[in-house]
Amino acid sequence: MHTGIALKHHWEKVYSKTLSGKPGWYTPHLQASLCWINELDMPFYAPIIDVGCGISTFAEDLLDAGYRSLTVLDISGRALATVKTRLGRKKSLVTWLEGDIASVDLPQHYYELWHDRAVFHYFTTEEQQQTYREKLLNTLKPGGHLILGTFAHGAPPKCSGLPVKRYTETELESLFGEEFVLLRHRRQRHVTPGGKGQMYLFCHFQRRE
Ligand SMILES: C[S@@+](CC[C@H](N)C(=O)[O-])C[C@H]1O[C@@H](n2cnc3c(N)ncnc32)[C@H](O)[C@@H]1O
Repeated sequence: MHTGIALKHHWEKVYSKTLSGKPGWYTPHLQASLCWINELDMPFYAPIIDVGCGISTFAEDLLDAGYRSLTVLDISGRALATVKTRLGRKKSLVTWLEGDIASVDLPQHYYELWHDRAVFHYFTTEEQQQTYREKLLNTLKPGGHLILGTFAHGAPPKCSGLPVKRYTETELESLFGEEFVLLRHRRQRHVTPGGKGQMYLFCHFQRRE
C-alpha cells in the first residue's frame, strides 16, 4: 500500500480521472449499510463517521433519513468537494475531514457508528491493520457499531489499481473479535459501472462494553 503523500496523490489522481464517469466501486446508494443502520434505530443525534466516503451518496442518504451528527472523512479533497457540491446548502450539516485514517486526529470514544465500505481492505499488512484497529478502538464508543465492507474472496486482488486483502467473515472476526461481537454478515455482488461483478462482504460488529 502507498502511504502518506503518495497515497493521497494516488487518490486525487483517481478522482481527477473519474469526475466525468463513475469509479468501479461506485453504486448509487449503499443499500446494505443503510438497511442495517435503519434497523439499529439509533437516535438521530448519534455521531456517525464514514471512513473513506469517496463520492458515495451515503451522507445525503443519512441526512435524508434524519441523522444529524455525521462526519465524513476521505484522503481525497476532490472526492469531498464532489460530495459537498452535490449536497449544496445541506453541506453545513456535515463535518468534513480530509486526511488519512491511519494518522488523522479523531475525538476519543465519540462515535456511535463507524462505517467503512472498501477502505480497510487496502490495509494489507499486519502492521497497517493494527494501526487501523487502534484508530478504531480509540474513536468508537464502547457498545458502538462497526459496519465494514470489504472485498470477499473471489473479488479481484486489486481495487483502483492498489492491492487489497479479501476476507471471509471468520477472518474479519479473528481480526476484530477480541473487542467486537459479530452480529451479522452478508455477501453482496456489486456490478461495477463497467458491468463487471465483484463480491463484497459486509460485517456488522458491536464493540463490547
Ligand atoms: C474504493 S473507494 C470507496 C469509497 C466509498 N466508501 C464507497 O463505497 O463508494 C475508497 C475511498 O477511500 C479513500 N481512502 C483510501 N485510503 C484512505 C485512507 N488511508 N484514509 C482515508 N481515506 C482513504 C479513497 O480516497 C476513496 O475515496
